[in-house]
Amino acid sequence: MSDKKLSGEVFYPSENTLKDLRVKKWDDLQKAASEDYEGFWSNIASELHWFRKWKKVIDDSKKPFYKWFTEAKTNIVYNCLDVHMETFRKNKLALIWEGENGDFKAFSYYALHRETNKFANVLKSMGVRKGDRVTIYMGRVPEIVIAMLACARIGAIHSVVYGGFSVEALHERLEDSHSKLLIVADGAYQRGKIVNLKSIADEALQRAASVEHVLVVKRTGHEINMEFGRDMWYHELMNMPFAKSKCEAEEMDSEDPLFMLYTSGTTGKPKAILHTHGGYMVGVYATLRYVFDINDEDRYWCAADPGWITGHSYIVYGPLLNGATSFLYEGAPNFPYPNRWWQMIEKYGITILYTAPTAIRGLMRFGDAWPGRHDLSSLRLLGSVGEPINPEAWRWYHSVIGGGRCPIMDTWWQTETGMFMITPMPSVPLKPGSGTRPFPGIEMDILDEEGKPVKDNEEGFLVIKTPWPAMIRTIYNDDDRYVEQYWSKYPGYYLTGDSARRDEDGYFWIIGRVDDVLKVSGYRLGTAEIESALVSHNAVSEAAAIGLPHDVKGNAIYTYVILRAGVQGSKELMEELRNHVGHEVGPIAKPESIEFVESLPKTRSGKIMRRVLKAKALGEDPGNLSTLED
Ligand code: PRX
Repeated sequence: MSDKKLSGEVFYPSENTLKDLRVKKWDDLQKAASEDYEGFWSNIASELHWFRKWKKVIDDSKKPFYKWFTEAKTNIVYNCLDVHMETFRKNKLALIWEGENGDFKAFSYYALHRETNKFANVLKSMGVRKGDRVTIYMGRVPEIVIAMLACARIGAIHSVVYGGFSVEALHERLEDSHSKLLIVADGAYQRGKIVNLKSIADEALQRAASVEHVLVVKRTGHEINMEFGRDMWYHELMNMPFAKSKCEAEEMDSEDPLFMLYTSGTTGKPKAILHTHGGYMVGVYATLRYVFDINDEDRYWCAADPGWITGHSYIVYGPLLNGATSFLYEGAPNFPYPNRWWQMIEKYGITILYTAPTAIRGLMRFGDAWPGRHDLSSLRLLGSVGEPINPEAWRWYHSVIGGGRCPIMDTWWQTETGMFMITPMPSVPLKPGSGTRPFPGIEMDILDEEGKPVKDNEEGFLVIKTPWPAMIRTIYNDDDRYVEQYWSKYPGYYLTGDSARRDEDGYFWIIGRVDDVLKVSGYRLGTAEIESALVSHNAVSEAAAIGLPHDVKGNAIYTYVILRAGVQGSKELMEELRNHVGHEVGPIAKPESIEFVESLPKTRSGKIMRRVLKAKALGEDPGNLSTLED
């Protein structure tokens, strides 16, 4: 980045920040990547272990079905664990965990390697083979990490379902993935209460046919139903003679699937985004290394949930690939008091904190005194992800949490991108609310409806013009939808679904989604999921959901419901419908408001015009109504 004076509010890195950085100048990396893109990624890939080297870095002969590191053999788990066994990291902490109730566990690389191997052998003994899908449904406990790693080690494809999802969301994902095994926890602690994950799973399993066995991790220890012949305890199997501590990592083709992760799209059901062993590994390894400048002295805390992409890439795989120490916490940020996070930063000496704007805004509300009671001087870098961060929250995070000395890495990316795409590095001058620029070598643009780049500071559709190693390979079992959704609006370019603008300094500013995807407290939900949950209630005939701005959550869910003939709207019914959505999709999907209406604005072809509902709710002009039916 040139030294020219930047416009607006700018935070320059201090001498102290720059002193020990791995990449002192963005320009150096940018130059290397733009002069020889394939060479750039090939050099990074060479830092990792491959059973067999690649023939080509990128194969774009079947666009948009790109392949990376063709014909190479590797295993991401071998790179996460085995490679460290030969170094001092063998006895270094890989994972530190604190439970909401104060429980504590820590795993050295040696211990994590051992547990993973043992569990991989358990999976094998249950008949799980390369290519099989395994669904994992738990809270934030170490076993979720072990389960993911054990699957990947033997080449099974994990599909983690966020522990905050509920019956229908889990059922849909089990069914679509044809998982034959479900790994679940008995329960999860949340704000002092127990979420009964196993009973949610039992209900989902009544609707799902493919699952043969259920492995249950004991976390809360409360009474649960164990179905004879189907359900087994994790801790019992881990004590069996077949749970040996050695299980060779399967040699995987670079393009073999590593995991699928469901996410909400424009229409219809959630879709399974597919990521691979080779390219994904290289992408997350490199981005964490450069963006958070992670090293052996760090105690790194990504406060996301392992059940979302942030957790996959930057709690589990990225830190382990880098031989880092990763911290995992089970509970909510403000339980039992709003200093819980700050207390743990002090207690564990956390050096890097990576979280979402919604959490920052939520904690900011409690004032400066809570963090003020704790010594946060171990922090050296901060991160933000999931939605645009408003400058006010950025400044608070920077000054109160970061003591004014910690640069904030505002990373823009998606489930589909697998890795950071627009992101600063600690050496880059920051503007509150902007993720600065695309990662070196990656070209992105902002286009108008016709596909022409917009002018500086004009809003348009954000697209990605270059392939990148951790890119989505397809939607599981739905190649057509992959092409249609991401590559058809502007052929050759990947459509992100976000709108953005770029300022005169080339800094990108994300505005928000332009499709029917909502960001509620950083969680990605589709209007379709909420609507279909409402319609599955027998009082409801039609439903529409929209997201309206909310100070802490980002988006709040507003819904409009047409009741079946003869059903009367009431406060009680409203509450019943909210709970029904909570039961089917999960508590995060519960609508903020439900309004009973007689009709919904639709196009002549019957599509609900959510933008009209949104404009009306916000008291804005709904714009062009020529396609409105009525
Ligand atoms: O709208 C963008 C927003 O989150 C979307 C992707 O959501 P998901 O697949 O759940 O992944 C979230 C974590 C990577 C994007 O399309 N988003 C993500 N990061 C940012 C962001 N919006 C603004 N700034 C960000 N840093």
